[in-house]
Amino acid sequence: MSVDTRHDVSEERRTAAARETPRPPPAMPPVPAPRGAEATARPAAPPAAPGTAPLGTRDFHLWYGTHPALRGITLELPANAVTAIIGPSGCGKSTLLRTFNRMNDMIPGVRTTGEVRVAGANVLEPGTDVVALRRRVGMVFQRPNPFPRSIFENVVFGLRMLGVHDRGELEARAERSLTSAALWDEVKDRLGRSALALSGGQQQRLCIARCLAVDPQVMLMDEPASALDPSATARIEELMLELKSRYTIVIVTHNMQQAARVSDRTAFLLNGELVEVDETRALFTSPRQKLTEDYITGRFG
Ligand SMILES: Nc1ncnc2c1ncn2[C@@H]1O[C@H](COP(=O)(O)OP(=O)(O)OP(=O)(O)O)[C@@H](O)[C@H]1O
Ligand SMILES: [Mg+2]
Repeated sequence: MSVDTRHDVSEERRTAAARETPRPPPAMPPVPAPRGAEATARPAAPPAAPGTAPLGTRDFHLWYGTHPALRGITLELPANAVTAIIGPSGCGKSTLLRTFNRMNDMIPGVRTTGEVRVAGANVLEPGTDVVALRRRVGMVFQRPNPFPRSIFENVVFGLRMLGVHDRGELEARAERSLTSAALWDEVKDRLGRSALALSGGQQQRLCIARCLAVDPQVMLMDEPASALDPSATARIEELMLELKSRYTIVIVTHNMQQAARVSDRTAFLLNGELVEVDETRALFTSPRQKLTEDYITGRFG
């Protein structure tokens, strides 16, 4: 994948775009390869094979009070793959992510219509066990949020909530989760120390370990590396590539190089609507929609 880091938008266009959409430009937007005539003629990508997408939405709408934040989103997210969600600030990326484990339920005044499927079931149906859903669909946030407890207690927190109290089992699962999160070697000798003494990148991997400890099927990651330095970011990205063989991963990112590096598919949202979803390489090199091209080349952000 060749993703250029130049940002060659002229001042004039930038000013015009800023008037239309007063949002900060994304960090280092890539410039896609020149579009050939065939780019616009490329047929629509086939939908993901049925039965292989544990996450999906159909004609999904969400309002915060009277504000429509998501409008008619129909999307399939394949299993064992990383899907990136990109789009300008305020376009609805986090809202869409929170839809899959019904975290938006916690926000007063939220109303939804349509379908949100996890492993084939519409999780918006009344009677959905939301606690079980959130165990299957874990979430990692932009800022690492370890509890002010020991490293060990952070990792086993969810297990204790699930009623696992056997010390041997808790230790085994803590080791397994920390190993999966590529943190074990760094913390195995200080599991009893405060999680707050870890670096930001270590804290984020600890939060990933905490999520993995309860055996989720899906990991939702909302800008998981945006608060981290380049080397901690690289570790999180490596981790995503390792984890996707066992989990379905959805990542929100403002960093298009990151989307290009880690994701198999990318969905571009704008003003609450899904503009385009495709294989990441195709979306960045020959987007079908002019709006996508304008966004990934930094003409607006
Ligand atoms: N709790 C809330 N109450 C009311 N409106 C909200 C709430 N959360 C988000 N919104 C609105 O919904 C829209 C989508 O917000 P969302 O946080 O999903 O955007 P985003 O794409 O994640 O943005 P960013 O890139 O800045 O994180 C925005 O207009 C936002 O103001
Ligand atoms: Mg967000």
